[in-house]
Amino acid sequence: MAATFAVATQAEPVRIELAERSYPIFIGAGLLRAPEPWAWLPQAAAAVIVSNVTVAPLYAQRLQARLRGRYPAVHTVVLPDGEQHKNWSTLNRIFDTLLQQHCDRKTVLIALGGGVVGDITGFAAASYMRGVPYVQVPTTLLAQVDSSVGGKTAINHPLGKNMIGAFHQPRLVVCDLDTLRSLPARELSAGLAEVIKYGPIADMAFFDWIEANLDALVARVPTALAGAVRRCCEIKAAVVGRDERESGLRAILNFGHTFGHAIEAGLGYGEWLHGEAVGCGMVMAATLSQRLGGVDAAFVQRLTRLLRAAGLPVKGPRLADNNAGRYLELMRVDKKADGGKLRYVVLEQPGRAALRDAPDALVREVIDACCA
Ligand code: NAD
Ligand code: GLY
Repeated sequence: MAATFAVATQAEPVRIELAERSYPIFIGAGLLRAPEPWAWLPQAAAAVIVSNVTVAPLYAQRLQARLRGRYPAVHTVVLPDGEQHKNWSTLNRIFDTLLQQHCDRKTVLIALGGGVVGDITGFAAASYMRGVPYVQVPTTLLAQVDSSVGGKTAINHPLGKNMIGAFHQPRLVVCDLDTLRSLPARELSAGLAEVIKYGPIADMAFFDWIEANLDALVARVPTALAGAVRRCCEIKAAVVGRDERESGLRAILNFGHTFGHAIEAGLGYGEWLHGEAVGCGMVMAATLSQRLGGVDAAFVQRLTRLLRAAGLPVKGPRLADNNAGRYLELMRVDKKADGGKLRYVVLEQPGRAALRDAPDALVREVIDACCA
């Protein structure tokens, strides 16, 4: 990964290079009104915007206006809002509309919203008629820097997060930074967790930059947001371009997620935000890395300080009397587990991550040390 980081000023899209499945990620202010990104839309007789009750009233009209010149029919499906709705019955509402409107296999689905809408729309697109094209229009920081890019799509199962899904790449990603203005502060912080993640796993110069620009990011200064979204997408593009289906390298993007998913599932989906759980999970993963010799205590403290300054919780919630046991039980359904054996994304050094085994006893110590 790059050894230095500077805010990019150019407006060219970042590209995901995956041969015939390559696509551009447009990043900028006012893109919902700008013509350029929309020239990349696939041709079809119909487009279906999938959004939710919070985002549709804010941005669906603007998007419909862009699509109407392009598609003879534009339909909109409005889903309930929240991680707890990332499930089969919500997914079926998308299929109901697609079938009621006689949508064919060229129909383009357009995900307008955060990661929940993006993941569920992507999975609907992967499955409807064995696969239709889709476009991501992410409206949260988290979705712009992570979930809209790379083609992981999923819904949750009561026994595990994102357990039912498919790899299905979008045709286009449009990150309109103006949409971040209406994002609640807590959601911005949750997105910052995924921004911060890219430093320890891939680019410590970017980590330095985030530390120096955190106030500007929290204040939503457009150049700061543009720089952060672009660098995150560049790093993710480099990783996904080398390992689309997570046979190895891509797992580093899940730094903090094994612990974080246990927090989300253990508390009940929607209680803590995904980014909050990941932020706290990164403190646990960094602490595990320290115990394994990859980073020192000063680095764990530095990461913890930055997460706290970004408005994120840094102490894990207690999930049961036998707290560490409950975390381990929940973590065993992690997709990185191999034959029931858990594997963790740990830091080999600041800026470099890898997938490793760790003894349960050590992980229990880490959980005990990192929970309230
Ligand atoms: P989210 O989709 O629930 O959105 C957060 C909240 O913000 C919601 O209430 C939403 O309605 C609201 N919102 C969205 N855009 C808004 C805007 N512009 N203004 C005002 N409100 C707005 O959560 P998220 O953090 O975007 O995404 C989390 C989800 O993403 C999780 O389900 C997680 O598993 C998934 N995820 C997937 C990947 C992937 O690679 N596919 C990566 C990371 C996370
Ligand atoms: N968010 C992890 C990944 O896309 O692989």
